[in-house]
Amino acid sequence: MNDFPDGFAHYPIYFDADQQQALIEAVRAGVKQAPFFISHMPRTGTPMSVALSNFGTLGWMSDKDQGYRYVPHHPATGKPWAPIPKLLLDLWDDVTGYPVQPECCLINWYKEGTKMGAHIDNDEQDAKAPVVSISLGDPAMFRMGGPQRGGPTKGIKLFSGDVVVMAGASRFCYHSVSKIFYGESALVPKGGRINLTMRRVNLP
Ligand code: SIN
Ligand code: FE2
Repeated sequence: MNDFPDGFAHYPIYFDADQQQALIEAVRAGVKQAPFFISHMPRTGTPMSVALSNFGTLGWMSDKDQGYRYVPHHPATGKPWAPIPKLLLDLWDDVTGYPVQPECCLINWYKEGTKMGAHIDNDEQDAKAPVVSISLGDPAMFRMGGPQRGGPTKGIKLFSGDVVVMAGASRFCYHSVSKIFYGESALVPKGGRINLTMRRVNLP
């Protein structure tokens, strides 16, 4: 029994300390090739507080004029994103059993005082594929709501190494990150929390 929407799953400490370290090394290498950047809200151009980069053949971004979208190249350097690390693709296969792999792994870096407002991941053509998300570094308060904005939410504290899967009904439910417990983990060299989110974008 849980109060989360159908299809929501939480795997506490799926990745052990060594694997978390390996993932942080992979992120460091990935952002050497494709540095963290700031995206902006569609239309208003308000900057988002969470810095982002991507792994994969498609990376997610947003700017004032063209809004949310997937692009094969980093918007500032024009270079491709680094490939999705094998450890993450193996995770995808393990927890989703989905027959095709994700093209995108978003890298979100939550620094001190940052959060992420309620949203649905809704920029993908493949609506059947789950979303798989990994937490590294400082813990976060993740809030899961329902299909309507502003409804009741249920909070869950996510720790480094935790994995969350949003499949089924939960795939199209609002979710947010309301707080980062800044400084509770020393895993991220420059501090804060890294969230990795894998998504299948195109129809198989
Ligand atoms: C997101 O929904 O894009 C990020 C979730 C998280 O940081 O855990
Ligand atoms: Fe999301």
